[in-house]
Amino acid sequence: MQLLHATAEAVPFAKTGGLADVLGALPAAQVALGHDVLVVHPWYARLAAEPPPLWIGDVDVPFDGAQVAVGVGTLELGGVRLAFVGHPSFQRDALYGYPDDAWRFALFSRAVPTVAARLGFVPDVLHVHDWHAALLPALVRHAALLPPGFSGLPSLLTVHNAQYQGWADAADVVAWGRLPGTLAGPLALHGKGNLLHAGLRTADRVTTVSPTYARELLQPAVAYGLERAFADLGPRLVGILNGLDYQAFDPAGDAALPAGFDADDLRGKDVCRAALTRELGVDPDRPLLGVVSRLADQKGIDLLIDALPAVLAQGWNLALLGAGDPALEDALEGAFAAHPDRLGGRIGYDEGLARRIYAGADALVVPSRFEPCGLAQLIAMRYGTLPIARATGGLLDTIDDGRTGFLFAAAEAPALAAALARARAARDDREGWRAMQAAAMAARFDWARAARAYDDLYRDVVADAGTAAAPGASRAARGGAAARPEDAGS
Ligand code: ADP
Ligand code: GLC
Repeated sequence: MQLLHATAEAVPFAKTGGLADVLGALPAAQVALGHDVLVVHPWYARLAAEPPPLWIGDVDVPFDGAQVAVGVGTLELGGVRLAFVGHPSFQRDALYGYPDDAWRFALFSRAVPTVAARLGFVPDVLHVHDWHAALLPALVRHAALLPPGFSGLPSLLTVHNAQYQGWADAADVVAWGRLPGTLAGPLALHGKGNLLHAGLRTADRVTTVSPTYARELLQPAVAYGLERAFADLGPRLVGILNGLDYQAFDPAGDAALPAGFDADDLRGKDVCRAALTRELGVDPDRPLLGVVSRLADQKGIDLLIDALPAVLAQGWNLALLGAGDPALEDALEGAFAAHPDRLGGRIGYDEGLARRIYAGADALVVPSRFEPCGLAQLIAMRYGTLPIARATGGLLDTIDDGRTGFLFAAAEAPALAAALARARAARDDREGWRAMQAAAMAARFDWARAARAYDDLYRDVVADAGTAAAPGASRAARGGAAARPEDAGS
């Protein structure tokens, strides 16, 4: 099949979190299954890969009442084709965090068909990721002025994180996209334009990145206002667990580490641990907790801060890397300063240090309030570092409590402290800990499995589209799919 992914991040080009890891690995797994894959990505001011894309000219995109010129760049990497969408609004220091983010990514979405068509690529299925690209299913279903072959394309939206939604004015969203004005209401959430909601209401299938998170999305506390839209999807909402790229994350051949190791010989892990404690200036003779995380409310780092007295009392040291919320950054800097020989780390984004923490720590703390999948715990397991994590979302689906890691239920510091104590006791049982490390390192969440699960859905949406196109077929006849609210024209 010809598959088109639209995403705001992909390794090795731009990354703020696991979305980039997924889009760096899934397309390659799909090429390995025989698909022809194009990934369309914004052309940010800085793309962390050489060589830069090849600029092949500009195209005009009908957007916001005008024809907007966007640059088209191309590259091929490991059999995956890439297209980059250039516009001055992407020439900024950061990927996100600007007042016009919804406008910028609506433009990106609107540009995807034109840019793909410029490359002669008309997909069988459009696979869009998160709010940044979530307007696309509405566009291919309803917008005017699409290039040939894009109107009515089957679409699949993957929700990597439902907390980020892309809010805007409801009338603006339809005007930007050149969508019928009657859609402003149905695409909006509580009267406000919401790009992720627009995607949930118009995509043929919606997936998320673990089965447990797919169930949790029916709860208001996890769905952030979208619980109704998720519930309305019924069986069209499916959880497909992410994989890990076991070549990109391999402790035996990781250039960021001072020594390599594998499950049969963990001596290199001791070298990594000693080097990490030197790098961060913490006492080398205590068991070491690691954290690699965005510092966002989602990640529960405040629980860890509240549990720091227990961390110290239990005899752990801490190696932390993270960036985000300034209040959490300050609290962590304060803790590092108060206990320099016990708590160490860096505020910032640092790929090399992240890998040295995964390798050098004994256990990785992941106290997330919610976690759609989580890749950090998968990387940690690969590096023989046992996750101590909240039993939510993909953490619950990937960590086997007492065998490959430690889970705790309540999103409260005492529950985290109790799990830390359990891990601390387990760490004193040398043989038992080794057995857990071996089990964690042997665990496999491979991308081929996930790619095959996506294949099943692609086949479904293509078959549904065929049924719908057949004479006399009605949408209600499409595989029992529920009618979409926007079809009612409400
Ligand atoms: P999320 O996408 O919600 O941030 P994931 O666990 O899915 O969580 O993925 C996070 C990814 O980003 C992992 O590859 C992790 O190693 C990386 N990462 C997170 N914070 C940092 C940081 N400060 N420096 C380097 N890498 C980081
Ligand atoms: C999001 C989620 C994270 C998930 C990642 C990749 O950033 O927060 O849990 O692993 O997307 O799907």
